[in-house]
Amino acid sequence: MTDPSDIVWHDQTVTRDQREQRLGQKGAVVWFTGLSGCGKSTVANELDRHLGQLGCATMLLDGDNIRHGLCAPPSVLAEEHGEDFASRFGLGFAEVDREENIRRVGSVAALMASAGLITLTAFVSPYRRDRDRVRAIVEKSGRVGDFLEVFVDTPLEICEQRDPKGLYKKARAGEIKHFTGISDPYESPHAPEIHLRGGDGRTPAEQAAEVLAGLKMRRIVAISQPR
Ligand code: ADX
Repeated sequence: MTDPSDIVWHDQTVTRDQREQRLGQKGAVVWFTGLSGCGKSTVANELDRHLGQLGCATMLLDGDNIRHGLCAPPSVLAEEHGEDFASRFGLGFAEVDREENIRRVGSVAALMASAGLITLTAFVSPYRRDRDRVRAIVEKSGRVGDFLEVFVDTPLEICEQRDPKGLYKKARAGEIKHFTGISDPYESPHAPEIHLRGGDGRTPAEQAAEVLAGLKMRRIVAISQPR
């Protein structure tokens, strides 16, 4: 087994402060969480677009996309890497797979924030402990306040009605195991920085504006952009 003391942190020449100064902003992680179909990706995309217009440097990490690469399922990895590798490193939706999914993504988001980017993420991330661990990773590599949890609180009935990918229908038919909200739990955040009520008739742009106001209030985005 690798001795952790054999892996020694190497301070980099260009510091986070310098990277942030270059960009004229502070890095942060804006973590959208909620049920599949709650609107988190849509709102995060809208916010991303708006931040771009304000001259902010951003990145968006979206669960559905990350699961095509960094967190691909075993079935995708097997062809290129073989069955053993695929079963070790491929991720599905069991609790432990989601734990690893969120750990990987949380670490990537923390790196992006340390590059000075306003990093938006959209993952179901149903377990409180996994989200809290990301908060700890982000704050440890940066500052307290660098992690904002945005709970997109859309009732299950509305998510199921929308069912944009037909997944709820399949989950109800027993064709998908571990489906959040149907056969797997979703643990709501106790104290999210931003609590967005979904399914109340507001447009994604209006919801994104609410998140943007939260970012301005916390001075992650300057009140009067552009720079
Ligand atoms: S997470 O729980 O590990 O954070 P993630 O956000 O990466 O999940 O992926 C969720 C997306 O995968 C959903 O938006 C949905 O499109 C799809 N999906 C497929 N199977 C499941 C499942 N069992 N539970 C939830 N989402 C699923």
